[in-house]
Amino acid sequence: MTELQQSSGKTKDEIATAYSSPPWWYNLRGFFILFFAYNSSIGSQLRFFGPNFGDQHLEVACGTGLALEFLLRWRKKKGLPEPHITGIDYAESMLDGAKQRFSGNSSIELKHADAANLPFPDNTFDTANIANAVHCFPDVDGALLDVYRVLKPGGTLAANVLLYPRGPWLFNRIADHINRWAIHKGILYTPYELTNIRQKFVNTGFEIVSEAVSGNCYNIMCRKQQAL
Ligand SMILES: C[S@@+](CC[C@H](N)C(=O)[O-])C[C@H]1O[C@@H](n2cnc3c(N)ncnc32)[C@H](O)[C@@H]1O
Repeated sequence: MTELQQSSGKTKDEIATAYSSPPWWYNLRGFFILFFAYNSSIGSQLRFFGPNFGDQHLEVACGTGLALEFLLRWRKKKGLPEPHITGIDYAESMLDGAKQRFSGNSSIELKHADAANLPFPDNTFDTANIANAVHCFPDVDGALLDVYRVLKPGGTLAANVLLYPRGPWLFNRIADHINRWAIHKGILYTPYELTNIRQKFVNTGFEIVSEAVSGNCYNIMCRKQQAL
């Protein structure tokens, strides 16, 4: 199966309307997708994304803020400092969920924005996370370039990217079915081949700090180059 055959081809506006499910169903379905399609767990996501929060943090495609809320609880339990967080998402319905979840929390700002057209000046953030969303973007090159632009020199980005299924046969079949359903619905743009997505981060200018394949995901921690 080639990447082209498994990409939804939907525009960012079509994708935004695909996120119209009620929050309880979105959350329940999210756990199912995490386990069967990503072959991952909340625990491994917390350990991966949790440490990557600097003073000024950008949460790209924050959705309803479910993952972010788990991450902030994890950080609190570990006694890690509370950062100032800016969360962006292109689906208004998802952003509304995040606004409700974090209402009254003055250290979290939420904005409607496209990941490929971020409304922030160059060199604004110390860190950025893209949790469970790179493979949802129709313009992944544009998104990586813009995240690179708004990070300060030396700033770090953590992202996990859904790969084509790579486990034992039965698990591959299940993951492949979920991916096709998600592409049809519009909540998945495309899974990636490892070398292809890795190259996109490198082409953007990011220096890879660490990388690993975990289940069906590529977890990459990378850094914006220091100014010369
Ligand atoms: C699977 S959800 C992940 C949400 C959240 N990061 C989490 O892990 O709970 C993917 C998110 O990507 C957002 N998204 C898709 N395309 C986007 C774009 N071009 N710009 C910003 N957000 C986008 C969707 O609206 C959705 O909220």
